[in-house]
Amino acid sequence: MLKRLILIQGSPSSSDEPSACGPPLLSASDTAALSGEFPDVEIESGVSGPSGDALHAVVDARAWRSSALDLWALDTGLHALDARGPFGLRLEGLDRAGAARAAYEVLTRCQRFIRRRNLASATAVFARILGRHRELHDLDRPLVRADYDHAIDVWQWMLRLDPRAGVAVQAAALFHDVERLVSEADVRIEHRAPDYQAFKDEHARRGAELARAALDGVGLPPDVLERIGALVASHERPGNDAELALLNDADALSFFSLNSAGFLDGYGPEHTRAKVAYTLRRLRPEARALLPRIRCRPEVEAMILGEPGRPSALEAQA
Ligand SMILES: [Fe+2]
Ligand SMILES: [Fe+2]
Repeated sequence: MLKRLILIQGSPSSSDEPSACGPPLLSASDTAALSGEFPDVEIESGVSGPSGDALHAVVDARAWRSSALDLWALDTGLHALDARGPFGLRLEGLDRAGAARAAYEVLTRCQRFIRRRNLASATAVFARILGRHRELHDLDRPLVRADYDHAIDVWQWMLRLDPRAGVAVQAAALFHDVERLVSEADVRIEHRAPDYQAFKDEHARRGAELARAALDGVGLPPDVLERIGALVASHERPGNDAELALLNDADALSFFSLNSAGFLDGYGPEHTRAKVAYTLRRLRPEARALLPRIRCRPEVEAMILGEPGRPSALEAQA
């Protein structure tokens, strides 16, 4: 579980003074904002040089926004650390101008390792829901691992967007794409669908059946189980239902923050451009306004900027 973020100015080889000797990398207001967004993570400033804490991953802030950033290596290292217990992240090479933004982006990219909960999910029943969800996923299979990570990430986005989210919509976040375990566990096929929306609607309908079956006997009241099924069945269309819109926002934000870089590698620019347009349409304006604070590959950012619903703040950054 990710417990600490250590912010390091410059690098061992740079001439920058270590942050411990100068003004802090983050202002008091930036620190408060970051802690408010990620209350379970301890945020510290450190000094350049080797760390005595072996249980940490290192992210170089100067490479963070590069298209060449090796996210596969980062994720592999994070999975290994997470399996061992609590761990930290050292975010190195920072300057004061970009430290707050980089810290927010890195914690967002790694939020699935924080595993925040609220009152509705800090229960024995929800622990069983998480257990059932985990049992379905063989994490040695790369696409299944990716789907598992996405499910946890959607759940975590949901709790950031609505800290009072109920148990049904949180469970729906975990199980919304469970159908992919049947249709796309070894090879992705969505880009070959002649009618993309129809393909997604069928994926949602079958996923609802699988979710209901997986959660049978976990201790949920029948009406909650039905509600989870209804949310999963409709999750590819936002609609007017507030919980459904929340699920769509969380799912779409997770596409951009966690999946979009690998999606571009896997599917190529043409289908990624269509996916970006489809996913932008699922976002409510308040969720779309968060996009400028998410790290996307430059190629994906350019696709977002090319869409009519682009966030104006992102345009201002470009
Ligand atoms: Fe889906
Ligand atoms: Fe999804």
